[in-house]
Amino acid sequence: MHQSDQTQDSRDPAQDYVLGNGVREQNRLQYQAAILEKWTGQFFVSAGIQPGMKVLDLGCGMGDVSLLAAKLVGPTGSVIAIDRDRVILEKARERAHRAGHAGNIEFLYANVLEFDSPLDFDAVVGRYTLLYQPDPVSAVRHAAKQVRSGGIVLFHEMDFANPIRSYPDGTLFGRVYTLVAETLRRAGCHPGLDLHLTRIFREAGLSWPTIKAEVPIGGEPGCFLYTWFTETLRSVLPRLEQFNLANADELDLDSLVARMETEALACHSQLIGPRQFGAWTRKAVSEGRHADNALLRAIWD
Ligand SMILES: C[S@@+](CC[C@H](N)C(=O)[O-])C[C@H]1O[C@@H](n2cnc3c(N)ncnc32)[C@H](O)[C@@H]1O
Repeated sequence: MHQSDQTQDSRDPAQDYVLGNGVREQNRLQYQAAILEKWTGQFFVSAGIQPGMKVLDLGCGMGDVSLLAAKLVGPTGSVIAIDRDRVILEKARERAHRAGHAGNIEFLYANVLEFDSPLDFDAVVGRYTLLYQPDPVSAVRHAAKQVRSGGIVLFHEMDFANPIRSYPDGTLFGRVYTLVAETLRRAGCHPGLDLHLTRIFREAGLSWPTIKAEVPIGGEPGCFLYTWFTETLRSVLPRLEQFNLANADELDLDSLVARMETEALACHSQLIGPRQFGAWTRKAVSEGRHADNALLRAIWD
């Protein structure tokens, strides 16, 4: 149905990706997806993703969002999922096959900024995709072109630049938060993009988005935040060291989960993770606009 190689780079762009593309990052994505699923699911349902729809998933990674979308659209719907990392796409394909969704998800190697499809999708979605794009406005504008009039444009992004204050100040958790944010920023990503979602949608030519936010909170024994933050720090470590922000010996990642947890428990900490933002809108129905204009003209005349 599609050309599976729409991008013909001589250099593999996935190599520049700040989180890397090793097995550990693939596992981290699945761990993270389990944390985020309920929120992404709420955003999808609230936005109106429903059975029978054709959905495009941008920057699918290990395919967790694609699988979620496939469940919501059911056997009468379908999902096309794209990523610029060939290895991760193969893993995502295997996972979809094992989950019994081989028939309604297609994984394609393509760049989010270039992928063009003859299909008019009912929805285009992406989770943690925009913050990695050099120009998020162009990315949203291009994404919106793939959607039919009246279709949904939805992004789930996070805030890694403006942490809500945790209790107490000055913890190891806070230091890890800052190190990840600074690495993302120096690598040219947009860890504070969540605050600009309205502007990005509007500058991309879309109407005002509905925006909802959720906040991960923890600090109890075994809390997911210790592992999530440690594994995220591990994924950005090569870039973090390149930027001289810290070094592996000093961070001692193998003991970081235990150290973060011990400190948090001793302080009765309340740790606040990155806010999760869902932003969506429907692409204007041009026929509807003409009808409205005709109605207005009739009133004025
Ligand atoms: C943080 S992961 C998120 C994966 C998935 N959306 C999820 O939430 O589990 C971002 C993914 O987007 C992909 N990506 C980033 N920029 C891209 C681009 N311009 N074109 C295609 N894929 C891209 C990366 O290769 C990576 O797999």
